[in-house]
Amino acid sequence: MKLDKKIITIDGPSASGKGVLSSSLANHLNFSLLDSGLLYRAYAYCYESSLDHELALKSFESINFVNASNKYSVNHDGNEITKQLRSESMAKIASKISMMPETRKNLISIQRSFKNDNGLIADGRDMGTVVFPEAAYKIFLTADPETRAKRRFLELQKKGQEVNMRDLIKDIEARDKADTERSLSPLIPASDASIIDTSILDPDQVLSRAIELVC
Ligand code: C5P
Repeated sequence: MKLDKKIITIDGPSASGKGVLSSSLANHLNFSLLDSGLLYRAYAYCYESSLDHELALKSFESINFVNASNKYSVNHDGNEITKQLRSESMAKIASKISMMPETRKNLISIQRSFKNDNGLIADGRDMGTVVFPEAAYKIFLTADPETRAKRRFLELQKKGQEVNMRDLIKDIEARDKADTERSLSPLIPASDASIIDTSILDPDQVLSRAIELVC
Protein backbone atom coordinates (compact mmCIF):
# COMPACT_ATOMS: atom_id res chain seq x y z
CA MET A 1 0.00 0.00 0.00
CA LYS A 2 1.29 3.47 -0.91
CA LEU A 3 1.61 5.50 2.29
CA ASP A 4 0.03 8.96 2.35
CA LYS A 5 2.13 11.57 4.18
CA LYS A 6 -0.78 13.99 4.17
CA ILE A 7 -2.79 11.93 6.66
CA ILE A 8 -1.97 11.64 10.37
CA THR A 9 -4.25 9.41 12.44
CA ILE A 10 -4.66 9.91 16.19
CA ASP A 11 -6.55 7.09 17.93
CA GLY A 12 -7.10 6.21 21.56
CA PRO A 13 -9.71 5.88 24.32
CA SER A 14 -11.86 8.77 25.56
CA ALA A 15 -10.07 11.61 27.36
CA SER A 16 -6.64 10.29 26.40
CA GLY A 17 -5.84 13.74 24.97
CA LYS A 18 -6.75 13.06 21.31
CA GLY A 19 -8.95 16.14 20.91
CA VAL A 20 -6.38 18.61 22.26
CA LEU A 21 -3.49 17.02 20.35
CA SER A 22 -5.49 16.77 17.12
CA SER A 23 -6.50 20.42 17.03
CA SER A 24 -3.08 21.74 18.14
CA LEU A 25 -1.26 19.52 15.60
CA ALA A 26 -3.74 20.52 12.87
CA ASN A 27 -3.10 24.21 13.66
CA HIS A 28 0.68 23.65 13.82
CA LEU A 29 0.80 21.91 10.42
CA ASN A 30 -2.06 23.88 8.89
CA PHE A 31 -3.91 20.61 8.24
CA SER A 32 -7.68 20.20 8.49
CA LEU A 33 -9.30 18.08 11.17
CA LEU A 34 -11.71 15.16 11.27
CA ASP A 35 -13.24 14.63 14.73
CA SER A 36 -14.82 11.25 13.95
CA GLY A 37 -16.25 10.92 17.50
CA LEU A 38 -18.34 14.00 16.79
CA LEU A 39 -19.65 12.30 13.62
CA TYR A 40 -20.64 9.24 15.68
CA ARG A 41 -22.34 11.49 18.24
CA ALA A 42 -24.19 13.38 15.47
CA TYR A 43 -25.25 10.09 13.87
CA ALA A 44 -26.45 8.88 17.31
CA TYR A 45 -28.51 12.08 17.60
CA CYS A 46 -30.10 11.36 14.19
CA TYR A 47 -30.66 7.66 14.93
CA GLU A 48 -32.15 8.19 18.39
CA SER A 49 -35.47 9.64 17.19
CA SER A 50 -36.32 6.93 14.62
CA LEU A 51 -34.15 3.89 15.52
CA ASP A 52 -33.87 3.38 11.75
CA HIS A 53 -30.55 3.63 9.87
CA GLU A 54 -32.03 4.77 6.57
CA LEU A 55 -33.90 7.60 8.28
CA ALA A 56 -30.84 8.41 10.40
CA LEU A 57 -28.71 8.80 7.27
CA LYS A 58 -31.37 11.04 5.71
CA SER A 59 -31.51 13.15 8.89
CA PHE A 60 -27.68 13.29 8.91
CA GLU A 61 -27.89 15.24 5.62
CA SER A 62 -29.32 18.14 7.69
CA ILE A 63 -26.26 18.15 9.95
CA ASN A 64 -23.82 20.99 9.37
CA PHE A 65 -20.31 20.91 10.87
CA VAL A 66 -19.03 24.47 11.29
CA ASN A 67 -15.24 24.67 11.57
CA ALA A 68 -13.68 27.65 13.39
CA SER A 69 -9.88 27.20 13.70
CA ASN A 70 -10.33 23.43 14.00
CA LYS A 71 -12.98 23.65 16.71
CA TYR A 72 -16.28 22.31 15.44
CA SER A 73 -19.79 23.38 16.30
CA VAL A 74 -22.72 21.40 14.95
CA ASN A 75 -26.15 22.46 13.67
CA HIS A 76 -29.08 20.24 12.77
CA ASP A 77 -31.74 21.86 10.59
CA GLY A 78 -30.33 25.22 11.72
CA ASN A 79 -30.47 24.37 15.46
CA GLU A 80 -27.21 24.42 17.41
CA ILE A 81 -26.76 20.96 19.01
CA THR A 82 -23.04 21.01 19.95
CA LYS A 83 -23.58 21.04 23.73
CA GLN A 84 -26.07 18.17 23.51
CA LEU A 85 -23.66 16.13 21.37
CA ARG A 86 -20.77 16.69 23.78
CA SER A 87 -22.73 15.43 26.82
CA GLU A 88 -21.89 12.12 28.54
CA SER A 89 -25.39 10.81 27.79
CA MET A 90 -24.84 11.28 24.04
CA ALA A 91 -21.40 9.64 24.36
CA LYS A 92 -23.10 6.57 25.83
CA ILE A 93 -25.64 6.40 22.98
CA ALA A 94 -22.84 6.91 20.42
CA SER A 95 -20.87 4.08 21.99
CA LYS A 96 -23.89 1.75 21.70
CA ILE A 97 -24.78 2.60 18.11
CA SER A 98 -21.13 2.51 17.02
CA MET A 99 -21.25 -1.29 17.43
CA MET A 100 -23.88 -1.63 14.71
CA PRO A 101 -22.51 -2.56 11.27
CA GLU A 102 -24.99 -0.19 9.53
CA THR A 103 -23.65 2.76 11.53
CA ARG A 104 -20.02 2.05 10.62
CA LYS A 105 -20.94 1.39 6.98
CA ASN A 106 -22.93 4.64 6.76
CA LEU A 107 -20.13 6.70 8.28
CA ILE A 108 -17.06 5.32 6.52
CA SER A 109 -17.39 7.20 3.23
CA ILE A 110 -18.40 10.40 5.07
CA GLN A 111 -15.19 10.13 7.12
CA ARG A 112 -13.07 9.41 4.05
CA SER A 113 -14.53 12.48 2.30
CA PHE A 114 -12.54 14.65 4.76
CA LYS A 115 -9.32 13.58 2.98
CA ASN A 116 -7.82 16.50 1.05
CA ASP A 117 -4.58 17.61 -0.64
CA ASN A 118 -3.56 20.05 2.12
CA GLY A 119 -3.44 17.41 4.84
CA LEU A 120 -5.72 15.82 7.43
CA ILE A 121 -5.50 14.96 11.11
CA ALA A 122 -8.02 12.16 11.75
CA ASP A 123 -9.06 11.72 15.40
CA GLY A 124 -10.95 8.59 16.51
CA ARG A 125 -10.79 4.92 17.47
CA ASP A 126 -10.19 3.17 14.13
CA MET A 127 -8.63 5.91 12.00
CA GLY A 128 -5.29 4.10 11.60
CA THR A 129 -6.70 0.57 11.40
CA VAL A 130 -9.83 0.87 9.23
CA VAL A 131 -10.65 4.34 7.85
CA PHE A 132 -7.18 5.54 6.77
CA PRO A 133 -4.86 2.49 6.79
CA GLU A 134 -2.78 4.33 4.17
CA ALA A 135 -1.80 7.08 6.65
CA ALA A 136 1.99 7.43 6.83
CA TYR A 137 1.86 8.58 10.46
CA LYS A 138 -0.24 6.85 13.10
CA ILE A 139 -0.34 7.87 16.73
CA PHE A 140 -2.14 5.99 19.51
CA LEU A 141 -2.63 7.83 22.82
CA THR A 142 -3.19 6.10 26.14
CA ALA A 143 -3.55 7.27 29.76
CA ASP A 144 -4.67 5.54 32.94
CA PRO A 145 -8.47 5.60 33.60
CA GLU A 146 -8.23 7.84 36.73
CA THR A 147 -6.27 10.51 34.84
CA ARG A 148 -8.78 10.38 31.99
CA ALA A 149 -11.76 10.58 34.35
CA LYS A 150 -10.19 13.61 36.08
CA ARG A 151 -9.66 15.34 32.71
CA ARG A 152 -13.22 14.63 31.60
CA PHE A 153 -14.52 15.83 35.01
CA LEU A 154 -12.76 19.21 34.65
CA GLU A 155 -13.82 19.52 31.01
CA LEU A 156 -17.52 18.89 31.79
CA GLN A 157 -17.41 21.08 34.92
CA LYS A 158 -16.00 23.94 32.83
CA LYS A 159 -18.96 23.52 30.48
CA GLY A 160 -21.34 23.82 33.47
CA GLN A 161 -22.45 20.17 33.30
CA GLU A 162 -23.11 18.33 36.56
CA VAL A 163 -20.90 15.28 36.99
CA ASN A 164 -20.02 12.77 39.65
CA MET A 165 -16.43 11.49 39.64
CA ARG A 166 -17.33 7.92 40.62
CA ASP A 167 -19.99 7.68 37.88
CA LEU A 168 -17.52 9.15 35.40
CA ILE A 169 -14.85 6.50 36.12
CA LYS A 170 -17.50 3.78 35.78
CA ASP A 171 -18.76 5.26 32.49
CA ILE A 172 -15.25 5.61 31.05
CA GLU A 173 -14.33 2.03 31.97
CA ALA A 174 -17.59 0.68 30.51
CA ARG A 175 -17.06 2.65 27.29
CA ASP A 176 -13.40 1.48 27.03
CA LYS A 177 -14.53 -2.12 27.46
CA ALA A 178 -17.27 -1.79 24.83
CA ASP A 179 -14.94 0.01 22.37
CA THR A 180 -12.08 -2.46 22.87
CA GLU A 181 -14.10 -5.67 22.83
CA ARG A 182 -16.50 -5.01 19.95
CA SER A 183 -15.95 -7.22 16.94
CA LEU A 184 -16.21 -4.40 14.35
CA SER A 185 -13.37 -1.87 14.29
CA PRO A 186 -12.30 -2.42 17.91
CA LEU A 187 -10.16 0.18 19.63
CA ILE A 188 -6.63 -1.18 19.10
CA PRO A 189 -3.41 0.46 17.94
CA ALA A 190 -2.52 -0.15 14.28
CA SER A 191 0.53 -2.42 14.00
CA ASP A 192 2.52 0.58 12.67
CA ALA A 193 1.28 3.10 15.27
CA SER A 194 3.51 4.99 17.72
CA ILE A 195 2.10 4.83 21.24
CA ILE A 196 2.27 7.86 23.56
CA ASP A 197 1.20 7.49 27.22
CA THR A 198 -0.11 10.95 28.16
CA SER A 199 -0.76 10.19 31.88
CA ILE A 200 2.09 12.37 33.13
CA LEU A 201 2.53 14.66 30.13
CA ASP A 202 0.98 18.10 29.65
CA PRO A 203 -0.58 19.03 26.27
CA ASP A 204 2.58 20.87 25.10
CA GLN A 205 4.76 17.84 25.85
CA VAL A 206 2.36 15.57 23.94
CA LEU A 207 2.39 17.99 20.99
CA SER A 208 6.24 18.07 20.98
CA ARG A 209 6.41 14.24 20.92
CA ALA A 210 3.89 14.12 18.08
CA ILE A 211 5.81 16.76 16.07
CA GLU A 212 9.01 14.71 16.50
CA LEU A 213 7.18 11.69 15.08
CA VAL A 214 5.66 13.35 12.03
CA CYS A 215 8.25 15.94 10.94
O1 C5P B 1 -14.38 10.36 20.66
P1 C5P B 1 -15.75 10.44 21.29
O2 C5P B 1 -15.75 10.21 22.76
O3 C5P B 1 -16.47 11.70 20.90
O4 C5P B 1 -16.58 9.22 20.62
C1 C5P B 1 -17.86 8.86 21.08
C2 C5P B 1 -18.08 7.37 20.82
O5 C5P B 1 -18.15 7.14 19.41
C3 C5P B 1 -16.93 6.46 21.32
O6 C5P B 1 -17.12 5.99 22.65
C4 C5P B 1 -16.97 5.29 20.34
O7 C5P B 1 -17.84 4.28 20.77
C5 C5P B 1 -17.54 5.90 19.06
N1 C5P B 1 -16.51 6.09 18.04
C6 C5P B 1 -16.17 5.01 17.26
N2 C5P B 1 -15.26 5.15 16.26
C7 C5P B 1 -14.65 6.33 16.04
C8 C5P B 1 -14.96 7.45 16.86
C9 C5P B 1 -15.89 7.28 17.87
O8 C5P B 1 -16.69 3.91 17.44
N3 C5P B 1 -13.77 6.45 15.05
